[in-house]
Amino acid sequence: MGESITITDNRTGESIEIPIERGGIDARAWGSLLPGIWFDDPSFTATSGADSAITYLDGGKGLLRYRGYPIEQLAGATSFLEVAHLIVFGELPNRVQLASWSDEISNEARIHENFHKRILEGFRDDAHAMGVLVSGIAAMSTFWPDGKDVEDSICRRTQMVRLIAKMPTLAASAYRRSVGTPYVQPDPGLDYTGNFLSMMFCQGDRPYEVDPVLRDALDLLFVLHADHEQNCSTTAARVVGSAHADPFLTVASAAAALSGPRHGGANEAVVRMLEGIGSYENVDDFISGVKTGSQKLMGFGHRVYKNYDPRARIIKDTAHNVFEVTGRNPLLDMALKLEEVALADDYFISRNLYPNVDFYSGLIYQSMGFPVEMFTVLFAIGRTPGWLAHWDELLVNESRIARPRQTYSGKLERTVPHIDQR
Ligand code: SDX
Repeated sequence: MGESITITDNRTGESIEIPIERGGIDARAWGSLLPGIWFDDPSFTATSGADSAITYLDGGKGLLRYRGYPIEQLAGATSFLEVAHLIVFGELPNRVQLASWSDEISNEARIHENFHKRILEGFRDDAHAMGVLVSGIAAMSTFWPDGKDVEDSICRRTQMVRLIAKMPTLAASAYRRSVGTPYVQPDPGLDYTGNFLSMMFCQGDRPYEVDPVLRDALDLLFVLHADHEQNCSTTAARVVGSAHADPFLTVASAAAALSGPRHGGANEAVVRMLEGIGSYENVDDFISGVKTGSQKLMGFGHRVYKNYDPRARIIKDTAHNVFEVTGRNPLLDMALKLEEVALADDYFISRNLYPNVDFYSGLIYQSMGFPVEMFTVLFAIGRTPGWLAHWDELLVNESRIARPRQTYSGKLERTVPHIDQR
C-alpha cells in the first residue's frame, strides 16, 4: 500500500490501515471499525462530498482548471458556449461541433408566452430578480415534466440544453418586468451573450447595437463563473439531484443557495458596501470596523483560496477595458484602496483574506448598466453549465442519495406531560 493512515479504536485496540488516494481517504473504510461514530464537520470544511472530474482547484497556489485547462488560458481565448460545452461534455468543441452546439442553444432560447403572462406578472413590482429567477427556473419544471426521467442520458442532455439556453431569456425577462419594458424574445441572429445584452437593453423596435467590448467582457465573466468545484450552490445541486429531483428543481435549489451574500450574493453586497462607505476618506475607518468584527469586507475571503482568486485578477484587468467604453466606475478607486489597505494589514494577511471573484465583478456589471439586483442573476447564468455538469455527473456515477448523519446535542428521552402539567 502506498501512502496511508492507520486508525486505532482504543476501546478495542483494533486498527485499520486506510490508503490515502487522490488527496483523500475513503470514509466507508472505517465504517466497519467505528460503526455509529460520525466525523463532525457541519460546514464540510474538511470533507470531500463528491468524486468529480469537472473542475480542479488548488487553494494554496490559486489554481483553477476546467477539465484540465487553466482558467488563464480559457479566459479570453474561448467563448462561454465553448466553455459550457467543455464543462458539460468534457471537451472543447471543434468548429463543426461549436456551430451545431450554438444552433442547438439558440433554437431553445425562447420561453413560453405563458411564462411572461402568468408567472412573471405574478410578482410585486419591487421583487428581487433572484427571487424571480429561482421561481422561474422551478416553474420550468411544470412546463417540461419529461425532465423527470433523470436516469435517461438523452433526456438529461435535452434539459441541460434547455436550461443553458433559457437562463438569459428568463433573466432578461425578470429585468424587463422590473423596469416595466415589454418582454423581448431572443434574436437568433445574435450570439449567446450579445443576444442577452439585446434582450436586456433593447428599446422599442430599434435594433440593439451590441458593443463588442462589453459583449466580450460579459462573455468572459460568464466563463469565469462557469464552475467552481463543490461550492455551496453546486453542493446544493448535488444534494437535491441525488434525490432524483428533476434538473429544473435541482438548478432552482442551486440558484437559491447562490443568492446568499456569503456566496453569489456577494457581488451585489460589494457594491452596496462601497456605496455605504461613501468616500475614499472613509476607507480606513471601514477597515477598522472590519477588524473589530462589526463589518465584513464583502468580496474578500474564500473557503478554498488562501491566495489571490485567479478569477479576481482577470476580472480586475477586464474592468479597465470596460471602463474605457463606459467611463470609469467612481467606486473603483475605493475598491482599489480597500484592496491596497487590506493586503498590507496583518488582520487580512494572517487570515489569508484576498479579493475573490465577487470583489470587482459588480463594478463592471454596474458600469454596463445592470442594476445591483441583477448581479447575482448574471452569476447564475454563468454557473448554470457547472451546476448541470455536476448533476449529470452524479447520475452517470449512479451516486446514492445524499443523507449525512449528525452529532445529537438535544434532550435525552423524556415523558410527554399533560398540558396542565406543562
Ligand atoms: C463565492 O466556494 C466557492 O467556490 C464560492 C465561489 C464560487 O465560485 O462558487 O468562489 C463564489 O461565493 C466567493 C465568496 C463570496 N463571499 C464573500 O465575498 C462574502 C465575504 N466573505 C466571507 O463571508 C467568507 O470569507 C466566506 C464565506 C467567503 C468564507 O467563509 P469561511 O471559509 O467559513 O471563513 P470564516 O468565516 O471561518 O473566516 C475565517 C476568519 C474569521 O476570523 P476569525 O474568526 O478567525 O477571527 O476570517 C474572517 C472571519 O471573521 N473573515 C473575514 C472575511 N472572511 C473571513 N473578515 C472580514 N471580512 C471577510 N470577508
